[in-house]
Amino acid sequence: MKITQVHPHFGAEITGLSLNADVPESVITELKDALAEYGVVVIRDQQALSDDEQIEFCRRFGTLQKSITLHRKDTVRRLTRDELTDLSNIDENGLRMDPNDTRRSLQKPGQLWHSDNSFRSPPGLYTFLKAKIVPPEGGDTEFADMRAAYDALDEATRQKVTGLEVRHSLAWSREQAGSPPLSPTEQANIPESVQPLVRVHPKTGRKSLYLSSHGRDVLGMSDADGRALLQELNAFSTQPQFVYRHKWRDGDFVVWDNRSTMHRATPFPEDKYQRDMRRTSIEDNEVAIAAEPVGAA
Ligand code: SIN
Repeated sequence: MKITQVHPHFGAEITGLSLNADVPESVITELKDALAEYGVVVIRDQQALSDDEQIEFCRRFGTLQKSITLHRKDTVRRLTRDELTDLSNIDENGLRMDPNDTRRSLQKPGQLWHSDNSFRSPPGLYTFLKAKIVPPEGGDTEFADMRAAYDALDEATRQKVTGLEVRHSLAWSREQAGSPPLSPTEQANIPESVQPLVRVHPKTGRKSLYLSSHGRDVLGMSDADGRALLQELNAFSTQPQFVYRHKWRDGDFVVWDNRSTMHRATPFPEDKYQRDMRRTSIEDNEVAIAAEPVGAA
């Protein structure tokens, strides 16, 4: 397996690896190390990886999260496995969906910068996204390195944000994206979560800004002040120098660490093309290490 860095701060491409075979434990360890170092890894040429194989491969990294789409009782799920989140514009008959289909509207928050499942407890640790059908134009995914963004903050801002906690809510990101509100079943099953704003990676010790479009309020600040701070940090950390834009190829299997990166989907001509992406996620069972305020004992 060959690892090549794809951006000055983060991101790596891996070739020469087949995830169909029984991947040895040593490779899983190498991949975890690569994720800690690069934040995002692009494993090329995994066309042959089936949904079941994807799920079994991901299980080797920790506890699989079930898809929140299971709580949406007014929509039909195309994919049968509970661990798979369908990020496509394709319906259960294999046809391109109307862009206003509820299932597609529910995916809209994915076009806002976010860290997967930050509104859940536990939140997302690793995400695995398999490209099954890639449109010929558009539909790239952008990633932001939240460690590099933290490192670039001035000292006064670091002091201001370290030790703060943020309330994350799916209802909030849905509202921001113009998606349908939470259904009664979603409300009952998807409570909000509180996450540190600056966290420390347990493996590398690097600090990162833990931001997400799900982040609604900063605890202890007024709504207006908290939201203004989150917007300011979001704009800072998604400047071009911190962003890697991934242009998908068929069979790409991209894995990222949600503790140190944010990402967003970008649009494509939905009236012309299909895009079929299948996501699995591992939950972050370790308690997040909040960065200590500067000067704290
Ligand atoms: C996601 O938000 O997890 C998926 C991004 C994409 O579909 O490009």
